[in-house]
Amino acid sequence: MTEQDFIPSGYEATATSGSFTWRAPSNIALVKYWGKRGEQLPANPSVSFTLDACATTTTLRYKKREYPDDDFGFELYLDGAVKDSFKPKINDFFHRIGKYMPFLKHYHFTIETSNSFPHSSGIASSASGMSALALCLMSLEQEISGNITEEDFFRKASFIARLGSGSACRSIRGELVVWGSHPEIAGSTDLYGVAYPGKVHPVFRTYQDTILLVDRGEKQVSSTAGHGLMHGHPFAERRFAQASENLSALQQVLETGDTEAFIAIVEREALTLHAMMMTGKPYFILMSPATLDVIRKIWSFRKETGVPVCFTLDAGANVHVLYPESEKEAVMEFINNELVAYYEKGHYICDRIGGGAVALP
Ligand code: PMV
Repeated sequence: MTEQDFIPSGYEATATSGSFTWRAPSNIALVKYWGKRGEQLPANPSVSFTLDACATTTTLRYKKREYPDDDFGFELYLDGAVKDSFKPKINDFFHRIGKYMPFLKHYHFTIETSNSFPHSSGIASSASGMSALALCLMSLEQEISGNITEEDFFRKASFIARLGSGSACRSIRGELVVWGSHPEIAGSTDLYGVAYPGKVHPVFRTYQDTILLVDRGEKQVSSTAGHGLMHGHPFAERRFAQASENLSALQQVLETGDTEAFIAIVEREALTLHAMMMTGKPYFILMSPATLDVIRKIWSFRKETGVPVCFTLDAGANVHVLYPESEKEAVMEFINNELVAYYEKGHYICDRIGGGAVALP
């Protein structure tokens, strides 16, 4: 498929007013996307666990305009309050997707959004937020298009979500999603996320992600600026190749259920992501002292007990603690007893691998 395949030839029906609601999850990458080119295309392939508890719920109310306007018309609410500061981002998004969704200028929208996790938690809401909005827009496109197959619906939702925030394209369906073309992964493409097609050992389908909110401050580096650091980065090309290699290696690990090999790939990916930021121009340290303390504690706990628990990180200080469900009791006891000093005000979020976005009535 190419970008052109996402441009509709015309619409068959009209819809004057109504609303759609979707709840879309966040995701946590095992092999990280970091660096982009062109129109939100990834510099390397990535794979993520779709999450379950961390999610955005968005209602899109639409009303047909009497006359289409040159500008996009919309209002935005976060948790019931007007949120004008989000408007430029959504306006840019509408500009970017306009040619793939030519109906946009024919409607006025009210977008009401809320996150299951606190806004100041340091948990990025762009993946779940852009995914939920893309799905609502797809529901409207489906309404006026006549027939769209389920497969086409979710494929285009992922394609549209990607244009809002790259990693959002992995937040449409569960449970493991690949984004970015990889020679060994059938169907993988830079244009949208696809369900990981390989065999997955049952142990990985039970994975838990306890997110320790060690630093709830504003992000030091926006993700756009962060990806930008990879342009001209001295290690960029090697890093992009390494991500592909790690995805190759992960396939066998996922099939055999080798949690030890899984840990080695996932932790190294997280540290490499941060290493890229620490060696960029300008350079950043996005971990906090607590991040490092937690990592060290996880390593000693794993060594002492043999429990296959590991960490991963996003572009921030919070620590995602990953482990199979069968180890939940032991890991939660460890988190509550030994890590309690590191996360802020006793905050963590218990999440797990999830099945993807759902439409709500
Ligand atoms: O989707 P963006 O542009 O916010 O990038 C997110 C990148 C990471 O979360 C750091 C890694 C990933 O693959 O999700």
